[in-house]
Amino acid sequence: MTRILITSALPYANGDLHIGHVSSTYIPADTYARFCRLKGYDVVFVCGADEHGTPISVAAREAGRTPLEYVDYYRERQLNDLKALNISFDNYYRTHSEENREITEHLLLKLRENGYIYQKEVEEFYCEGDKTYLPDRMIKGTCPYCGAEDQYSDACEVCGRTIEPGGILGPHCIICGNPPVTRKENHFIFKLSAFSDRLYEWLKSDETGENFPKDVVNYVAQWIKTGLQDWDITREDYWGFKLPYKDAKKNQYVYVWFDAPIGYIASTINWSKKKGVNWEDYWKREDSFIAHFIGKDIVYHHFLFWPAVLMGTEEITLPKKYVVNGYLTLEGLKMSKSRHWLIPLNYILKRYPADYVRFYLAFKAANTIKDNNFSWEEFQERINADLVDNIGNFIHRILHFINNRYDSKIPEPSNFDNLDNEFAQLISSIVDEISAYYEQCDLSKAIKRIIESFKFANSYFSAKEPWKTIKEKPEAAGTTLYLCANFLRTAATLIQPIIPQSAEKLQKYLNIEPEEWDSAKELLLKPRHKIREAEPLFEKIPKEELEKEIETLEQQTKQTEKKEKAEIEINEFNKLDIRIGEIISAKQLQGELIQLVVQTEPNKQTTIVGKLGGSYKPQELEGKKVTVLTNLKPRKIQGIPSKGMLLAAIDGEKISLLVPDKDIETGSKVG
Ligand code: MSP
Ligand code: ZN
Repeated sequence: MTRILITSALPYANGDLHIGHVSSTYIPADTYARFCRLKGYDVVFVCGADEHGTPISVAAREAGRTPLEYVDYYRERQLNDLKALNISFDNYYRTHSEENREITEHLLLKLRENGYIYQKEVEEFYCEGDKTYLPDRMIKGTCPYCGAEDQYSDACEVCGRTIEPGGILGPHCIICGNPPVTRKENHFIFKLSAFSDRLYEWLKSDETGENFPKDVVNYVAQWIKTGLQDWDITREDYWGFKLPYKDAKKNQYVYVWFDAPIGYIASTINWSKKKGVNWEDYWKREDSFIAHFIGKDIVYHHFLFWPAVLMGTEEITLPKKYVVNGYLTLEGLKMSKSRHWLIPLNYILKRYPADYVRFYLAFKAANTIKDNNFSWEEFQERINADLVDNIGNFIHRILHFINNRYDSKIPEPSNFDNLDNEFAQLISSIVDEISAYYEQCDLSKAIKRIIESFKFANSYFSAKEPWKTIKEKPEAAGTTLYLCANFLRTAATLIQPIIPQSAEKLQKYLNIEPEEWDSAKELLLKPRHKIREAEPLFEKIPKEELEKEIETLEQQTKQTEKKEKAEIEINEFNKLDIRIGEIISAKQLQGELIQLVVQTEPNKQTTIVGKLGGSYKPQELEGKKVTVLTNLKPRKIQGIPSKGMLLAAIDGEKISLLVPDKDIETGSKVG
């Protein structure tokens, strides 16, 4: 029996998952796992939290937690969200575990024994202010390959290259912003360069091009040709596993990217203990079939570091299949955690059924590194047009017809005419077509073809007009509904990997159990089989919902932008001439605008037009002492020259002027 081990990239346990993570990685992996199970393969689908490394320890410190408390918290939240999306892991484990420590240590010792680890003096960054070594992500600077600024020192987000320690240009400490000093340390290095030929050969071993994506193979081959750098796997003052070598120093740890993919094995080991089976059947046999699902940013780690480590240990079978998807942008812009330009998974799942999210995101996943875009408008469009109007309406039309006109019993078919034959033919041929798309993990094509088949079914039903023939030619109507019901039975299996909850409901209405993939080709729903009373499977997303979503998204990022303004120097602040002024007169203009004359110094008055009318009446303003920015460039508001600005606190519609707490001379400086 085909035995398949499926992994999806282990998410860093340092924040909530968003729609990007699931679109490139978890939804594609889950549909593949579900498809393989339907095919009757022996499937194990593992994942877990990636818990080590500096980004996590930095974030934990900021949150006032230990790294372990911190990852416990996010691991749990991520797992809950993935469950809510119905990602059907067989095991969800973690990298900070005994299983992972044990096997990581074992592989590290093995690599050294086999001559692939050597020691070298490496210049390390050290922050004298913060009294700590600064591994990778505690340093930012300019990418040495493409010149992109503000990049973490271990990888460039712009060109996708991995940057060796010390390679970053213009480094500075992310805690205090100061340039670090360098110190020499003896590091343990993995001889990646020794694997160039073997990696190249392995990369080209997928002759059919079915299992290694061609576009990825091409650029990885290019990386190999331009020469691989050996890989420094040592970090000082780190959150992770200690190096298992006797000659390593106490503060020397294993780099997170070394133990992270080993987490796939650790998760399998943990699962196998619970199941009482042998994990080595999935990882060590000649015929083990290991399939990795990842996003395009971690290609380097999965196509070079990881297989080279496996080659070097000579124990574990090399991966046989990779599915790599591109990045998801949001409304055309790169997603950003710091600007909060993203949609958390738990947000979207609170508002829409998991199947809607899966359907739309699967629609984008074609197993290519091309980037995709999420737009709320398109989300609504796909759900309303494809899922509701096309798929959902047909399902309901048929079930409802059988409920009402045939007392919920599948009618007897009679002789097939040409159109009936064509439809029956489609039912059997579509199963293999969709099967091929699932094998290729081209969910986009699978969904499009499924939609087409529903369109055909819809037009078949309309052309046959069974609501008429049921009286005039009942045997013809019987054939029509018999075929349509069988189409639904087939379709339930076809859609199961993508929208499992809806498939299950459809099977419940059809009063059948989940079925094996290959049986979907046949017309197995027999005459007189009784179906259940059906309800519509899907509901349209109203226009107002859509408008709300777009507003929420914009609000969310605006708020963080306000919070996260860049730091400024005191001399920049000193440029502002802020004084206590007194409002001499106030006049209501159009809308909420009020025109004020403000005394800002003993012999100086200025006219200021402000949008205060929502919160103040002119008469309550006259005589008030306020805070004024006096040296703002003059500008015209509604044709009136305005120079200066009253300082006020703003909360949505509400405005509150800042006034001096104790009585003080007009013209006093504020600072
Ligand atoms: N911890 C590593 C993976 C280790 S695997 C041994 C990691 N974690 S992650 O949380 O940053 O990303 C998890 C998955 O989501 C990865 O496959 C990554 O490529 C993917 N994506 C992260 N951001 C994404 C988008 N904006 N869009 C699409 N996929 C994204 O990488
Ligand atoms: Zn510092």
